[in-house]
Amino acid sequence: MTTSCHGQREGRVPSSGGSVAGMNEVRGGGGDGAADGSDPGGPVRAPGEVWLVGAGPGDPGLLTIRGRELLGRADVVVTDRLVSAEVLAFVRPGAEIIYSGKSAGALTRTQEDLNALLVDRALAGHLVVRLKGGDPFVLGRGGEEAEACRLAGVACTVVPGVTSAFAAPAYAGIPVTHRGIAQDVAVVSGHLPPGHLESTVDWAALGASRMTVVVLMGIARLAEIAAALLEGGRSPDTPVAVIERATTPAQRIVRATLDAVAVDAIALGVRSPAVVVIGDVAARCDAVPQIGPPVGPPVGPDERGSAGDGPTPTAGSVTDRPLAGLRVLVPRTRPRPGLLAARLRALGADAVETVVSRPGPVADVEAEPDPRIVEELRHGDLHAVAFASSTAARATAALYGPLPAGILVAVVGGRTAAACQRADIRVDAVASEPGIYPLAAAVIAAVTAARSR
Ligand SMILES: C[S@@+](CC[C@H](N)C(=O)[O-])C[C@H]1O[C@@H](n2cnc3c(N)ncnc32)[C@H](O)[C@@H]1O
Repeated sequence: MTTSCHGQREGRVPSSGGSVAGMNEVRGGGGDGAADGSDPGGPVRAPGEVWLVGAGPGDPGLLTIRGRELLGRADVVVTDRLVSAEVLAFVRPGAEIIYSGKSAGALTRTQEDLNALLVDRALAGHLVVRLKGGDPFVLGRGGEEAEACRLAGVACTVVPGVTSAFAAPAYAGIPVTHRGIAQDVAVVSGHLPPGHLESTVDWAALGASRMTVVVLMGIARLAEIAAALLEGGRSPDTPVAVIERATTPAQRIVRATLDAVAVDAIALGVRSPAVVVIGDVAARCDAVPQIGPPVGPPVGPDERGSAGDGPTPTAGSVTDRPLAGLRVLVPRTRPRPGLLAARLRALGADAVETVVSRPGPVADVEAEPDPRIVEELRHGDLHAVAFASSTAARATAALYGPLPAGILVAVVGGRTAAACQRADIRVDAVASEPGIYPLAAAVIAAVTAARSR
């Protein structure tokens, strides 16, 4: 059994011709899933392994090629809440996806439970991908998970990811170092773990320096952080940029000064996840702040047909698009990512797809509720929903119950509107013609009407 935790191991990287899981297929020894050796007769698998994979900050184009390849091969994917739906779309159909579901105020699994889960699944012979937002080793507790694997004798390999600490400023056009302005940069956590009264970060030293300070998990304690830096000697007019939901279509940048940032962030309703950049570079905007079109898995032939119905999605500044800053739920009755979500993203929305029904032997049956969607609805993170069919509306209501009062609902056609009515869902806009473009236009109409109220 391998007992070390490796860095990149070129020899173990799955290639198009081989399978990491397949390499572990053996006969004899322990049973499949029974590492105690209780079933010596049947076909068995040697212990599997864990890959700690960085998912990047949200834009699926920032997932590494190796990460994507592993998602296509994993038996089990244990994912963070922050990992985007577009990245999860690369997971092999049939693989088990487990949500670790940690978010402020809602801890569904302890770190110890998570470590045990990774180890158990690997010892049962599975290729386990632990998918973590950004980079696994940047304020992500990836080190603890790697250590747990090592202690249990499970092979563990790290695939670095693009960290939000650097991707967020970059997408906001901010160079974290700049000749003559800042030659050094510190990445720090703004979070105080439960039971810790004081941060171990030396805020006074950071305040006394000129370095760029990038704070992750800092929104809840922004006032204390700003005060500590000011006390350390930073000037009150030090530029600050807060980048919310960086690299997604919902990215928003709030610029302020150090003395005012906490008040401004509250006034503008800034929420986690957000990266705070403090220092003179935060006033800059050197790169063109554009977000590329989402890169998703190839569309199926049945979906390609309607792609020419309207304008091609293009990259552009998120701020000039009508759905910029909005998270729109797209309940689907087919498992593949679709063009409606692509269209909504082109209009600036952060489209969140979820499968709500699947084909049954006689008729469509409801899928399982998606824990991510349950959490997003509970947190009020979704602004609108687009129902493309009455089945989608019915299944969504059955899976998630009454939608929050504030969510805007756009539907296609009278039958879908009637299904919503029966499910007690208020409808804000109805597209009278079928197709993704009329439905996307209905979403815009619902949003425009709500904004003008
Ligand atoms: C637990 S830390 C994980 C950091 C991650 N390992 C990384 O390298 O980006 C979570 C914090 O990362 C930051 N973060 C992650 N993704 C982000 C995004 N898309 N936009 C803004 N901040 C993000 C936020 O500060 C969030 O509270």
